[in-house]
Amino acid sequence: MKNSRTRHLAILGAQWGDEGKGKIVDLLAPSFAIVARSQGGHNAGHTVFVNGEQFILHLIPSGILHDGVTCVIGNGVVVDPTALFAEIDHLAEQGIDTTGRLFVSDRAHVILPYHRDLEAVSEARLGNQAIGTTSRGIGPSYEDKAGRRGIRIADLADRSKSGRLMTLLDANVAARNSVIPSGPMSSRSLVAELETVWARLAPMVTDTSALLHNALAENKSILFEGAQGAMLDIDHGTFPYVTSSNSTIGGVCTGLGVGPKAIDAVLGIVKVYTTRVGAGPLPTELTGSAGDRLRESGKEYGASTGRPRRCGWFDSVAVKYAVQVNGIEALALTKLDVLDDQEKIKICTGYRCGDNVLTTPPADIGQLGRCEPEYEVLPGWAGVGSCAGVRLESDLPSAARAYIERLEELSGIPAAIISTGSDRKDTIVRESGLASRWLK
Ligand code: IMP
Repeated sequence: MKNSRTRHLAILGAQWGDEGKGKIVDLLAPSFAIVARSQGGHNAGHTVFVNGEQFILHLIPSGILHDGVTCVIGNGVVVDPTALFAEIDHLAEQGIDTTGRLFVSDRAHVILPYHRDLEAVSEARLGNQAIGTTSRGIGPSYEDKAGRRGIRIADLADRSKSGRLMTLLDANVAARNSVIPSGPMSSRSLVAELETVWARLAPMVTDTSALLHNALAENKSILFEGAQGAMLDIDHGTFPYVTSSNSTIGGVCTGLGVGPKAIDAVLGIVKVYTTRVGAGPLPTELTGSAGDRLRESGKEYGASTGRPRRCGWFDSVAVKYAVQVNGIEALALTKLDVLDDQEKIKICTGYRCGDNVLTTPPADIGQLGRCEPEYEVLPGWAGVGSCAGVRLESDLPSAARAYIERLEELSGIPAAIISTGSDRKDTIVRESGLASRWLK
């Protein structure tokens, strides 16, 4: 356990996203003054159950569900204002008021309707090599950022004819219309829409890096909430089948304007099996009825797109790699109850590639696609006991405890949290673990 100076925690996905970060953030958030998102956009889908009620968050940090917690959308996030407002409205309908405690970086890039159009064209062009994106315009918005033609939130303030926004919109819309000549878009009508957008957005806009630095100076604790997972990171993931941002630890610093020393600890979230949405290699994927069984037990359908997730056994090669890349020091293991009906459970311990067994994912995506998982088989606990809703570790079936122990050995770090169901309460928090100090 970290010493008493450990205040600021990063929570990151250590697989291909959808690890259950939302639930863990929600669980720990009451102990933090601020919850901050650093990357991605409304491609993320964080599902949280509170007393049986379901909340799905895309862009807004999961900490918003707790009164008094301030939420930050950092400069590294790409923001679709329409999606943001829809989410705020939806939360209001569910009784969650975001007024005065949700802040958006003035440096964050904006997603506009032409980004979605361009994404549809680029995915169609790729044919059977398509990435299988969430179609939210995320990639093209990050492309505009790297291409230095992106529109930032701060640019929305000046909508005059000779202003920077209008110049950028004219150029970007013309580029979009040259790629998609049918149904041309007009920069004039877009800027008119942005008039209304700005009126609603402006009170939330601030220099969020300064906000965080003030909080650090005042000794307020910050929870850094990751989106997606390490294997979807644009640098460290299964490129090109990745998202367009850094979902690993470096993204927290660049995406929020804080230094690495602001992060005291890193908690990695992993499901006790593997899932992925979209295309790209997934070494432990189970096709046919075995995959269907895991998908149905785990209700593995995308929170953002509703797409069925591809399912497979736990991949310790991928998780160990994520632990290394992120400096993760403890894990939160999620969805243990989903394995309740499995007679035998497999864990991938290496990737067989010809005569070699790889213990880290290869950069060559073709090679990764040809790798065969090497498995170790452990007994399940079907018919012996159930993990569903268990809140005391001693109440877990012994085979489940042995499985957890093996996952920890292979990942090289301990589990601090074990989640046994979708509700906040269905959680085992180890007394001696990294997370216990944040639980009220
Ligand atoms: P994009 O982020 O929409 O560009 O999609 C790129 C890849 O990342 C696709 O395979 C998506 O399915 C995947 N992806 C993006 N966001 C998430 C997420 O929150 N969970 C799981 N997969 C995601």
